[in-house]
Amino acid sequence: MKNKSITSALEISKQDALKIFQLADKIKMGKVPKLKGKIALLFFEPSTRTFFSFYSAALLTGLTPIGFQSIEGTSVKKGESLIDTVRMFLGYGADCIVMRHPRAGAPLYIAERIDKPVINAGDDSREHPTQGLLDVYTIRERFGKIDGLRIGILGDLRYGRTPSSLAYLLSHWDTELVFIAPPLLQIDKRNDGMEMILRERDVKYEKREEVRVEDLDVLYVTRIQRERFPDEREYLKVRGAYRITRELLNRAKKDMIVMHPLPRVDELSPEVDRDERAWYFRQAENGLYVRAALFSLILGGWK
Ligand code: NCD
Repeated sequence: MKNKSITSALEISKQDALKIFQLADKIKMGKVPKLKGKIALLFFEPSTRTFFSFYSAALLTGLTPIGFQSIEGTSVKKGESLIDTVRMFLGYGADCIVMRHPRAGAPLYIAERIDKPVINAGDDSREHPTQGLLDVYTIRERFGKIDGLRIGILGDLRYGRTPSSLAYLLSHWDTELVFIAPPLLQIDKRNDGMEMILRERDVKYEKREEVRVEDLDVLYVTRIQRERFPDEREYLKVRGAYRITRELLNRAKKDMIVMHPLPRVDELSPEVDRDERAWYFRQAENGLYVRAALFSLILGGWK
């Protein structure tokens, strides 16, 4: 990982991921490394979980979080450039920049221009590598392995940024991926070359339109990213195209798990929460441990 930055899941090797998972296991059991320094959280797009899990991970490990959760009230509103905003936070002593931005590639742009590590916390429809890490961590926690699993990734594979990062990380293991989506939202050449990358990495995958779940070990549900559709009429064509209910789960394996990066809107019925296969809240909690592990590897000296 260049400069210890994480701008794409493609930069995270299997060895890196395993190291992060092992450390996250320890942190989850209460063995928390003590770190010193400041983390700048620069969120140019709304966030609840990602922002506050990074924030809590900083506090847990003894780091001081600075920054903003929204551009309301910042000089970005006055037209300040991205690099100037970042420079300010470096001046205030930030040792690492965590950044979410509505422009694809913005974290990489910054990582190439500063000496401190940059962590991508989501850039437009492109990627969300730390979400991918906590997703794979959760799968490993549940099954004790990743190899041999059949993982369905359902929903907005076109505008969502969690499916790509998840699939890139899973490419290190021997999994079978099933991309389930209406044609308008399926992976293809529109998704930043995602399909090409999966082919290059010899990932076994298939595409499916119908929401069938009986062959899956993991069902990873995502929200339709309404705000990223350039044309609201396109969104209306796919609105409500799929919904996971208890009835659908009756047809799934008894030990399958349902995951979701959250927030959910209407694609995952709240009645599923009562099913023991619902793993999304545990998944969200794991964000804290995985991000604390990441801080400790990045700031504590990655070897
Ligand atoms: C996701 C995101 O921001 O990409 N949320 C998250 O970080 N947990 C998913 C989404 O917004 O649908």
